[in-house]
Amino acid sequence: MQSMTVKPMWDGFGVEITGIDLSKPDTETQDKVVELFHLHGAVVVRDQNLNPEQQMAFTERFGEPETNTRLEYTYPGEPRIYVISNKKVGGKDIGDYQAGLGWHTDSSYLEKPAMCTMLHALEVPAEGSDTLLADLCAAYRALPEETQSKIDNLKIHHSYQALMDMKGVTLSDKQKAELPDVVHPMVRTHPADGRKALWVSTGTTRGVIGMENPEGLELIQKMVTHATSEPFVHAHKWRKGDVLIWDNRCTLHRGTPFDVSKYVRLVHRSWVKGDRPV
Ligand code: SIN
Repeated sequence: MQSMTVKPMWDGFGVEITGIDLSKPDTETQDKVVELFHLHGAVVVRDQNLNPEQQMAFTERFGEPETNTRLEYTYPGEPRIYVISNKKVGGKDIGDYQAGLGWHTDSSYLEKPAMCTMLHALEVPAEGSDTLLADLCAAYRALPEETQSKIDNLKIHHSYQALMDMKGVTLSDKQKAELPDVVHPMVRTHPADGRKALWVSTGTTRGVIGMENPEGLELIQKMVTHATSEPFVHAHKWRKGDVLIWDNRCTLHRGTPFDVSKYVRLVHRSWVKGDRPV
């Protein structure tokens, strides 16, 4: 196993790893990173240069990779890698540069949402484009006990259709049948150590089961506002070569804008399938 330096990234959330090369087929080192990931909410491994095949080999150490629904922006020949970029080749966009600009947790519209998300930065703007991560366990712990017991057993109605409505996209009957609405807990327990996360999101949420709207949606919004308030949000400032992996079971995330007329951003994203939230 390669020796690595591990440092806390932020107070009580995330770790930074240096001194290793993830392109080597060294599963022992890679599995140590996976172990740290399960406990810390997010991990950044600095100074990497992974081709798509190497990124997918590392992704597979976390579990089974998830596929993408929008194939037009996936890497040619590797549909499990989604290209986040404003770069053009031959006058044509090679990626989607606006992926994930609102607070969300990935694929919360699925019965088994993505467990983790990995971004590998190949080109980064000199300013802007931070990825923000909200620590949902810290957000849950900071709630008054009375609020915790009020929400502990609540369930949220999530819907892919709701997300597409926001984007003005009409789903075909086939898509509707493939992606039915799902119900997930508002408070999610992490399988690694039982810690609880305030597992709310925006975009896919239609309301709270057993509550009328607007009260249900207002409660979700109130919890999102709390979870994404300053004490719980951490900004990842990108360096070329970073591999950032966050745990969707206990975080919300969002991208931030940058000056697309001045800078190029090129990031390769891969996902790992998750379990049914409990
Ligand atoms: C995402 O939400 O998947 C991407 C976030 C980012 O581009 O920083």
